[in-house]
Amino acid sequence: MAEILAVGEAMERALALLRGGDVVAIPTETVYGLAGDATNGVGVARIFEAKGRPRFNPLIAHVADMGMAERIALFDPLSKKLALAFWPGPLTLVLPQRPGNGIHPLVTAGLDTIALRMPRGFGGELIARLGRPLAAPSANSSGRISATTAQAVAADLGARIKLVVDGGATPVGLESTIVKAEGSAVRLLRPGGIAAGEIEAVIGMKLLRGGAVGVEAPGMLASHYAPGAAVRLNAGTVAEGEALLAFGSLRAEGWRHAAAFLNLSVSGDLREAASNLFSYMQDLDRSGAQTIAVEPIPLDGLGEAINDRLSRAAAPRDNTQPAT
Ligand code: TXA
Ligand code: MG
Repeated sequence: MAEILAVGEAMERALALLRGGDVVAIPTETVYGLAGDATNGVGVARIFEAKGRPRFNPLIAHVADMGMAERIALFDPLSKKLALAFWPGPLTLVLPQRPGNGIHPLVTAGLDTIALRMPRGFGGELIARLGRPLAAPSANSSGRISATTAQAVAADLGARIKLVVDGGATPVGLESTIVKAEGSAVRLLRPGGIAAGEIEAVIGMKLLRGGAVGVEAPGMLASHYAPGAAVRLNAGTVAEGEALLAFGSLRAEGWRHAAAFLNLSVSGDLREAASNLFSYMQDLDRSGAQTIAVEPIPLDGLGEAINDRLSRAAAPRDNTQPAT
């Protein structure tokens, strides 16, 4: 069972776990977050594993200060204005990523944008001490409502994580508001802890709504996940000219003549496989092969999300079709 430590006594233990690539449940002003080092693929994979998420949807990266935020993302003037007005606080900004920012691609589900927020209190101090951003979705298992007390987190995820930092009931109690600047306008992607009207007062105009509402939509569109190459799943053989995305120790027939070859996890570790998935897909795509053959990957644990991601990449290309 997870240990529950009060914020005043949890810092060193939380730092040690995060430095070791593990996850920690932390209080923020909105809801409890399940945090992992956003630059460590295994740490990020553990977040999905602990939540039992059947999908790799993009996570929010939490930062300690504006300097860290600007090393990760490119700020347009409107987004900068919102950050200065509301950070630290319950506002998340979706921004283009700065190339080479060190954020693990599993955090953003391979997108070239990133959701950023600067939390108040313990989370902010923890990130500053760690010196790295923390990826943190709400600390609840997939399909359940967000936890607003340490006890709720422990009851739900306690068997799967080592530490819950207890900061009492979260003051806001619902998730952050998510917005994205689009040209000279700003779109509301998820209503949350900061009212739309407060944001509109700062930018001096109405927020765009609709279209991208339903925050999961941007990351869920099949087109975002599709590499240039075709993807063939559960491959038992490799055809001439195909690249091979392997898993485990048993090789598909004909693997020696694969145009390019990467193994998600030689030892068959799904956590390692998840952390390699997005970058390996991109690498094999860049190899120029017309098709990426993918060896069978088991469906248990993180395998469900890995297979979900791969089947989306293998789906017929239609940019307007939301994946189900
Ligand atoms: O208050 C909060 O925001 C909490 C605390 C822990 O910070 N976190 C939270 O995270 O609610 P999560 O993972 O439950 O929700 C993140 C949302 C998802 O709906 C996801 O689709 C969206 O942010 N998101 C993340 N990256 C995105 C991106 N690049 N573009 C559009 N939406 C994105
Ligand atoms: Mg959530």
